[in-house]
Amino acid sequence: MIREYLYKSEEEQTILKTYKIAVIPGDGTGPEVVREGLKVMEAAAAVSGFKYETCEYDFGGERYLRTGEILPENAADELRAYNAIYLGAIGHPDVKPGILEKGILLKLRFELDQYINLRPVKLYPGVDTPLKDKGPEDIDYVVVRENTEGLYTGAGGVLKKGTKDEVAVQESINTRKGVERCIRYAFEYAKKRNKDKKLTLCGKTNVLTYAFDLWERTFYEVAKEYPDIKPDYAHVDATTMWMVKNPEWFDVIVTDNMFGDIITDLGAMTQGGMGIAAGGNINPEGVSMFEPIGGSAPKYTGMNVINPLAAIGAAGMLLETLGEDKAAGLIDKAIAKVTGEKLKSLSAGKMGYSTSQVGDMVAQFVTDMA
Ligand code: IPM
Ligand code: MN
Repeated sequence: MIREYLYKSEEEQTILKTYKIAVIPGDGTGPEVVREGLKVMEAAAAVSGFKYETCEYDFGGERYLRTGEILPENAADELRAYNAIYLGAIGHPDVKPGILEKGILLKLRFELDQYINLRPVKLYPGVDTPLKDKGPEDIDYVVVRENTEGLYTGAGGVLKKGTKDEVAVQESINTRKGVERCIRYAFEYAKKRNKDKKLTLCGKTNVLTYAFDLWERTFYEVAKEYPDIKPDYAHVDATTMWMVKNPEWFDVIVTDNMFGDIITDLGAMTQGGMGIAAGGNINPEGVSMFEPIGGSAPKYTGMNVINPLAAIGAAGMLLETLGEDKAAGLIDKAIAKVTGEKLKSLSAGKMGYSTSQVGDMVAQFVTDMA
């Protein structure tokens, strides 16, 4: 899918890669933050030697309310033809909670087999954290969340609904294949990241003795192939304690879908909130989807006050996954410049700048630092 063609300048003849990126701006403030992310990606592309083309899809609440269709049947197949997907936000105040989340976000994660949900927890300079006496050097780790199994598969059922005898069963599905590929990804990630060379399995082996026994055995088996990475274990409840008290203990954390969902919201708060938390739904062998993890923030829609940094960070992750490390690195540094030197706060309406001004500043820093 990467179209390569010759770009000839006077002195050189270089092959520029052209990526195809599907853009789903989505609901609420999604379109506003996606616009800034694309602005920054454009600046990064210009200085890093690649190009990209985008195609927009109108999936989201508005479309559902207009047409009654949540996601066209061929959506996943069509999206498979792209190098990556860039998503703004899904969630509409007039649509019952669960419909769009399950029908769009989770459906795409499952159908595109995006089995990794990658969520960096990084405190940028100048950003307030609720953690006392902790700074950017203490809060810098990545959560690798399994993204296609566990409690999210919809396995289970209900009996005698609405009666006093109602029974609800929701099962956590953990397959050897699913667990192993996630753990392998996490070891590879810890190796590539090359920070503390430590990978912590976050589980609950003392109670969930079937599911996390599989996770634990697989973890220590795979660990043997990575002698340079220190394998570490913490129960999920203890993990939340250390994330608050000693976040510097973490380098890479690997965990299941549900625990990963919960601990990454906690992590996002420690890095300054949803305005800056980015994530990637990754299929290392397929097409991946990147998003700010904060949601559609409907009350700020169209006001040009929402913080676009999470979406910009997601754009950086997208480029990193495509192998554009230079561009991704520039975006990360530019975000740090903006938080460190410009923004008063990360909160919507309190940044001291508008959404588009923040995008402009990041893009400018990307250009200047190249
Ligand atoms: C997330 C979200 C989703 C999840 C919801 C919207 C289905 O909370 O991306 O973390 O639970 O995975
Ligand atoms: Mn979540």
